[in-house]
Amino acid sequence: MDLFEAIRTRRSIRRFTYRPVEEEKLQALLEAMRHAPSWANLQCWKFIVVKDSAVRERISELTYVESFFSPLGYKTNPAKKGVAEAPVVIVACADPSRSGNIWGQQYYLADVGIAAQSLMLAARALGLGTVFVGVFDEEALRGLLGIPSPIRVVGIFPVGYPMEEKTGGSPRKAMEEIVSYEKWQ
Ligand SMILES: Cc1cc2nc3c(=O)[nH]c(=O)nc-3n(C[C@H](O)[C@H](O)[C@H](O)COP(=O)(O)O)c2cc1C
Repeated sequence: MDLFEAIRTRRSIRRFTYRPVEEEKLQALLEAMRHAPSWANLQCWKFIVVKDSAVRERISELTYVESFFSPLGYKTNPAKKGVAEAPVVIVACADPSRSGNIWGQQYYLADVGIAAQSLMLAARALGLGTVFVGVFDEEALRGLLGIPSPIRVVGIFPVGYPMEEKTGGSPRKAMEEIVSYEKWQ
């Protein structure tokens, strides 16, 4: 699939079939993440691949947090079910001390965000689906997966074959609303 087609047609996938993800495809996704750029090329990330269904189920439960506020009006995390049913879940972590922190810019978030986009586009190109799950109980997740406390969990990515093909893009702001030329306006 052409890169621009993958960019244009990628959608957040939150429901998955039971079809397993082939090992070559999983490795291709991880390679795509590994090749992402990062601050000073420090690659502050670590990606935990979870296949164990009991652990996926527990992670799914941790995507709900009491203080969850959704601008879209969801009462719980809409990706909760998908995290349990996807055959593979990738938990993307970062060590903030291994990335830049200059004038309050926390580059580890950008580092992992870019790797996440590589994952999402690669998944799309391979016929797989995923979604960036950014709401979760980080402390509990640390306990579950043995992640030491200086390490931050940035995102959870359920990966699998989509239950349905989403046609049409999700709404986007108009170009003139998000782009200005030469100065802020
Ligand atoms: C940083 C970040 C965090 C997100 N967290 C969640 C989440 O916790 N649960 C969820 O269902 N979707 C989550 N999403 C997915 C967005 O809701 C989704 O990308 C957006 O609605 C646009 O839809 P699309 O990806 O299909 O284009 C997150 C996306 C980003 C970039």
